[in-house]
Amino acid sequence: MRLAVFVSGKGTNLLNIIRKGKDGFLASEVKLVVSDRDCEAVESSERAGIRTRVADPKRYPSEMEFGSELLDLLKNTETDFIVLAGFLKKIPDVVIRNYANRIINIHPALLPSFGGKGMYGMRVHQAVLDYGCKVSGATVHIVDVEYDHGPIVVQKCVPVYSNDTADSLASRVHQLEYELLPEAIRLFENGHVKIEGRKVIIRTEGSDKK
Ligand code: GRF
Repeated sequence: MRLAVFVSGKGTNLLNIIRKGKDGFLASEVKLVVSDRDCEAVESSERAGIRTRVADPKRYPSEMEFGSELLDLLKNTETDFIVLAGFLKKIPDVVIRNYANRIINIHPALLPSFGGKGMYGMRVHQAVLDYGCKVSGATVHIVDVEYDHGPIVVQKCVPVYSNDTADSLASRVHQLEYELLPEAIRLFENGHVKIEGRKVIIRTEGSDKK
């Protein structure tokens, strides 16, 4: 697949996806990186020679105009699948409609807990600690019009320790994300994902795993 990756921060997941393409784990290649701001991810993407576009939705008169510019860009680069890896802005509805079931997001907790508007970065990990959870994890889900809401593709857990800080938990979750996100992309590459309403069925050889 030709991938577009949307970012807003460090871009360590982006770099990991690029690496997984180079080492052959993924057949997909990152052809476009979109960011709403100048950030480390943009620098890494430019260094890797990937087409990179910084577009702040606030600078557009409406969501529709932001969306149609994004769509043009996605079509020009022949993007067939979009990965949100730390992108903090809302994806315009027109893009979601045109890429229905072809946009995934990674969230650093076990959805539907600790998600939604405003729940990102260290806030998520601090909320998990404050609640006293014994496990946390990461979730890859299909993107729909609500933040962190679409059908769940894959989830994995990590333990939460009593001496964890938001930083230590974040770094454990990040390590997990480096496995989970490429695994999810690979499922789509191989046509193993079937979406039935809220349920995502992972089809492996000869079986359906719900
Ligand atoms: C990840 O924790 C991801 O779950 C969340 O944003 C973070 C991005 O990290 N959506 P990075 O920029 O890839 O390092």
